[in-house]
Amino acid sequence: MDIYEAILARHSVRQYIDKKLPTEVIYALQAECEGINEESGLHIQLATDEEKAFKGFLPKYGKFSGVQNYVALVGPKGPDFDEMTGYYGERIVLKAQMLGLNTCWVALTVNKMKVKCEIAEKEKLGCIIALGYGANQGVQHKMRKIEDLCEVKMHMPKWFEQGMNAVLLAPSAVNQQHYKFILKANDTVEAVSTGGAYSKVDLGIAEYHFEIGAGNYPFKWADKPSD
Ligand SMILES: Cc1cc2nc3c(=O)[nH]c(=O)nc-3n(C[C@H](O)[C@H](O)[C@H](O)COP(=O)(O)O)c2cc1C
Repeated sequence: MDIYEAILARHSVRQYIDKKLPTEVIYALQAECEGINEESGLHIQLATDEEKAFKGFLPKYGKFSGVQNYVALVGPKGPDFDEMTGYYGERIVLKAQMLGLNTCWVALTVNKMKVKCEIAEKEKLGCIIALGYGANQGVQHKMRKIEDLCEVKMHMPKWFEQGMNAVLLAPSAVNQQHYKFILKANDTVEAVSTGGAYSKVDLGIAEYHFEIGAGNYPFKWADKPSD
């Protein structure tokens, strides 16, 4: 399975079977987390054979069962934290899918006190990604139209359309997809969140999808206002 096939196959899965992750799968996930941490300065950690975080909570939405493994998205506090954890967390989600696993982003339905991870001074824990062998493959979320999520004043180039097609398939909190991708001059794309809880995490996830969809085309991201 290549990464675009992973984008197509991925749906949130909340029920997991009782099957341990093979050692080579754990190594591959750990290597991905370590590579990301080195590149980004995040402190993402994988927890395996750990059930506590998903036990004894009041499900606010989504009903999880059998979760034994997860990734804790920890990193330095700061204005970019949410977007970065979205971008890099989705890289782990798609890696997991390519390794034959299923996943679900989790913001609300977990007992954060019981998440097994180290949080250093000046760091915080954001979302969690549940992963393992799903009892099902999930279902395709209700899809928006490309024009709902972008602004293009010129003829839409193929690479931008392909980027947007990958964005349409991105997971987002309560499937809100509160963002816009704006095509500017000189192959520049500005991606902005249009607000709401976790919308910056969603934005980072969607940016990663866009890059995969656009493939090798050398577009540029517009500078963020805080840059
Ligand atoms: C940042 C974020 C937080 C999420 N939090 C939860 C959650 O707490 N509980 C849950 O059941 N699903 C959660 N989800 C999963 C979304 O409900 C799901 O991605 C969305 O409905 C789209 O469906 P799909 O992932 O199958 O494409 C979250 C997704 C994202 C991106």
